[in-house]
Formats: sequence, structure tokens, C-alpha cells
Amino acid sequence: MLLSLLNICNAGDSFISIMNIYGGSVNLFSHTLRRLGIECIYIDKNASDEEIDAAFQSNTKAVFGETIANLALTVFDIERFAATADKHKVPLIIDNTFATPILCKPFEFGADIIVYSTSNYMDGHAVQVGGVIVDSGNFDWTNGKFPDLTEQDDKDKAAMKEFATKCCQLLSIRSLKNYKEISLPGTQG
Ligand SMILES: Cc1ncc(COP(=O)(O)O)c(C=O)c1O
Repeated sequence: MLLSLLNICNAGDSFISIMNIYGGSVNLFSHTLRRLGIECIYIDKNASDEEIDAAFQSNTKAVFGETIANLALTVFDIERFAATADKHKVPLIIDNTFATPILCKPFEFGADIIVYSTSNYMDGHAVQVGGVIVDSGNFDWTNGKFPDLTEQDDKDKAAMKEFATKCCQLLSIRSLKNYKEISLPGTQG
């Protein structure tokens, strides 16, 4: 859950979550992420389309729901929320842990990302912890709202240049040729 949102949201961003979700996720959203400057806007799963639209702000980066809520056992209307998220150009993230990928395939209903708590599947009482994030590959990350995922920053450039330089040095030692710095695409300047 945490990484699926941290990949997308920065401090100052918000995301929308349905109220009926696992208690640990509420704790994560209401406390941990809030401390990191990321705000969760809760809405009722039965909210009207107008109410859902009104919850979106310019800094809203995702919508989150749980297929079958643990413990409420309510069922989330993935298709309706997928359409709204799509309209606002943000991904719909679905926690499909309770339903399992055997019983429900949220991508078939328009979800963009599915998350699973593998802690639950492995032993269920947190002797080990783990999770899986699956991207459908259908969301357009280049729509301008997610520059962190689509634009190279100067640190990337510097790191690539340093990496390329080190590789060249290594190769020149191995081949006993003189080291010569080369430019790789995206590393100029
Ligand atoms: C639906 C759901 N999501 C997430 C979690 C928590 O997962 P983890 O402990 O791996 O963070 C649980 C735990 O019971 C859960 O039922």
C-alpha cells in the first residue's frame, strides 16, 4: 500500500480513498502519509458521481479502493470509480488482498494498479511482511501529472554519466586500451 502511493504522491499531494478499507490502511493513510505531507481525502463508496468529482483537487494523484473491505465485507464498485479516476487522469489503485486474484481480476473492471498484502497469504500474522504492486500497463503516465515517473532529472543525468564513465574505465582496463569518455544518449551536458 505504502509504496504504491509513495511512487505517485509527493509531499503536498493528495489522493482519494474509499472509507471502507482495512484498518491498517486507514492508519497508514491518516497518520503515516499525513506526516509525510500527503493528504488522504475519504469518500463514501456510495457517494454520487458529483460528490466524487467534487472530492478531486488539482493535487489529487490517485484513487484507492478495496475490492472486498476487510472487515466491513462491503464490495467496491471498481468500474464506476475507474471511470471517474480516468476522467480526472489519475490511476485507480485496488487492494485486492481479500478477494484474491483467483476470485477477482480488477484489471478487467478498469483498475490501473492492484496491490496485494503477501503478509496475509504467507502466514497472516506478520511473522514476515511483504506486498506486491501490479501495474496494468494501461495507464498513461505521460499525461503531465506524473513528471517524477516520466521526466529525467539532473540527478539521474549525473548518476548515468558517472555510471557510464565508470563502465568505460573498467572496459578500458580490461581491454588495456586508453580510457576515453563517451557520451550516452541523455547524458550530455
Ligand atoms: C485487505 C488488506 N490489505 C492490507 C493488509 C495489511 O497488509 P500488510 O500487513 O502486509 O501491510 C491487510 C491485513 O490484514 C488486509 O486485510
